Amino acid sequence: MQLTVNKKTHEIDVEPEMPLLWVLRDELGITGPKFGCGVGFCGACTVHVGGVAMRSCSVPVGSVKGLVTTIEGLGNPKALHAVQAAWVEHQVAQCGYCQSGQIMTAAAFLSSVRNPTDQQIDDAMSANLCRCGTYPRIRLALKTAAQKLKGG
Ligand code: FES
Ligand code: FES
Repeated sequence: MQLTVNKKTHEIDVEPEMPLLWVLRDELGITGPKFGCGVGFCGACTVHVGGVAMRSCSVPVGSVKGLVTTIEGLGNPKALHAVQAAWVEHQVAQCGYCQSGQIMTAAAFLSSVRNPTDQQIDDAMSANLCRCGTYPRIRLALKTAAQKLKGG
């Protein structure tokens, strides 16, 4: 079957039930999405499928319709996505393990909500778990990114 990830199309020979996360990490060597809980609970594995944030550990690859974007394809070192740049500016990451999932959730959220309130940010991000407790910096960075995306 074919799978397009970060604008590159791959031919993969796997069972359709295989979770997308397994395919990304083990078949394609794309390691930005992390294995946390493996059951859709923590958000460490979050990627975009057709622009929507999804938990790749819980998505069978055979059901994937649309382009897959991982943190590696969100921006690049020379042209960071606004969310990535804001994460750097606010030094959000601590151990870093949850952060690619956090950033992918944040980027999808800001593509539909341009002027988020604290409550909207907390609601959008609360299901992405961070054992290091980076939530206050996540909120700050999201606000900075929202401003930048609005052209501010
Ligand atoms: S690893 Fe996918 S939600 Fe935890
Ligand atoms: S930065 Fe360590 S788990 Fe979130």
